[in-house]
Amino acid sequence: MKETKWWQQAVGYQIYPRSFNDSNNDGIGDLPGIMEKIPYLKKLGVDFLWLNPIFVSPNVDNGYDISDYQGIAPEFGTMEDFDKLLDQAHQADLKIIMDLVVNHTSDQHPWFLQAKLSRDNPYHDYYIWHDGKKDTPPNDWPSIFGGSVWEYNEECGQYYFHTFAKEQPDLNWDSPKLRQDILEMITWWLDKGIDGYRVDAISHLKKADFTLPQGNDNARPFAHFQNVAGIEDYLNELKNVFAKYDLLTVGEASGVSAGQAPSWVGPDGYFKMIFEFDHINLWQKTEQKINIPGFKKALSTWQNGLSHGQGWNALYMENHDVPRSISLFDVPEDLEVTAGKAIAMMYFCLQGTPFIYQGQELGMTNFPFTKIEQIETQNSHYQYQELLAQGLTKKEAMVVIQSTTRDNARTPMQWDDSKNAGFSEVNSRLAVNPNYKKINATAQIDQPDSLFSFYQKLIQLRKNHPVLITGEFLELLPDHQQMFVYKRLGETKEFADFLVLVNLTDEVARFNLPEQKEAQLILSNYTVENSLTNSEIFQPFEARLYQVASEK
Ligand code: GLC
Ligand code: CA
Repeated sequence: MKETKWWQQAVGYQIYPRSFNDSNNDGIGDLPGIMEKIPYLKKLGVDFLWLNPIFVSPNVDNGYDISDYQGIAPEFGTMEDFDKLLDQAHQADLKIIMDLVVNHTSDQHPWFLQAKLSRDNPYHDYYIWHDGKKDTPPNDWPSIFGGSVWEYNEECGQYYFHTFAKEQPDLNWDSPKLRQDILEMITWWLDKGIDGYRVDAISHLKKADFTLPQGNDNARPFAHFQNVAGIEDYLNELKNVFAKYDLLTVGEASGVSAGQAPSWVGPDGYFKMIFEFDHINLWQKTEQKINIPGFKKALSTWQNGLSHGQGWNALYMENHDVPRSISLFDVPEDLEVTAGKAIAMMYFCLQGTPFIYQGQELGMTNFPFTKIEQIETQNSHYQYQELLAQGLTKKEAMVVIQSTTRDNARTPMQWDDSKNAGFSEVNSRLAVNPNYKKINATAQIDQPDSLFSFYQKLIQLRKNHPVLITGEFLELLPDHQQMFVYKRLGETKEFADFLVLVNLTDEVARFNLPEQKEAQLILSNYTVENSLTNSEIFQPFEARLYQVASEK
């Protein structure tokens, strides 16, 4: 059996602390709230937690605008609470990885408050400045959150660069002093004993020559600050600090293709794995229905691109930035649990480390937002204004926002059917999804047929069958319009391959498969016979996992 590292064997669980569990009833989830739920997380069976940013922040971008890297945001608790959480998690054999946000800070960070005072302030060079006349930005590059990447600052009479909101100025990684401060801050956290990092927006560190026009490349509007040549120098500095510890590091790497990924996550890569965007970008369109062939292609390209030890995948279907997956697959209400299981099996059995986003294990769905006032996330407000400017009515604009906003994933976790779904005794800024009476943890944890139990089983299967961790990926029926079918190949002649078959649509699917010897049904979401015939019919969102005789 191939040797594996802890971060390859592990299953992760992403916690968005603000919406997870509120221990002191102020409407905001917090660190003691996470501690209370350690038994729940153990019951599910996950091995590590990724916490979204918990640092001091003005919260223009919900914690991704940090004003003190070494301080805990008071609404989440204290550093003592954090130390306690880390300790309790470790005692329960749960590791914790944090969010590392070093492409930018908040405009309220002391560095920026200094930097903008004058051009010869010692911190000026910590950010990216450009001369230019007010109202004439240095170039036409668009920021990811809308508008220009440039914002004029009156105090020093220059423009500064921001990949995201104007309150999130980008750090200047060309400054050796800045790099040293960042690396020291990272070391400080690693010495505390955290187990790794999810590294935010890391493909944006390097910017291209500012004289390049944005041009007409609408397919890649951010290409001039996404995985630009020269970024490797910065990433190598990070890698050298990480290399001193036994960490799980996962870079958020938009704009990095499967072909480029081996240099990021191969044996000499900067990170252990990266979050790719190809299968997710297909969702961010206004049309809601997912494009199944494109989706399959994106996933298999990444599986093949990092096969045979060329790298390792981070597997995910949801996070705090994207809508809920069951809603994306446009699932009829009576099939939600079935579809949730199909989605789970489909991505969990791929090669890589699976991440579960809070509430995904319960089948939480998008929120029926109807008014922009219900939305918290700032970039949806930008998007709404843009849609109105394009001539959409408020109602039309809200249809787009409802299906795409990040807030779909950020509503409070649904623990039980009591007031506010057991998240808090008071209302939180984002309302609880009205479906909480039906979809909640208490209703599922001891229910053998629930989605929660299905995730539990998948996690245990992965632990009991190393082939599900190391086995190579082999896609079958790549051109089928509904079925995603693949094998994970064992290393011996024995009964060792796994076969995954998932109907990703709400219609019956028919297909012919080469004969599979000794097929043993391991897990399914419909009651079915053990057998697998050459010519199969799968029900809407039907999913089955078989163990079959080895191809070898
Ligand atoms: C990442 C985060 C997102 C944030 C952005 C800027 O994409 O996941 O939530 O807005 O970076 O930090
Ligand atoms: Ca609280």
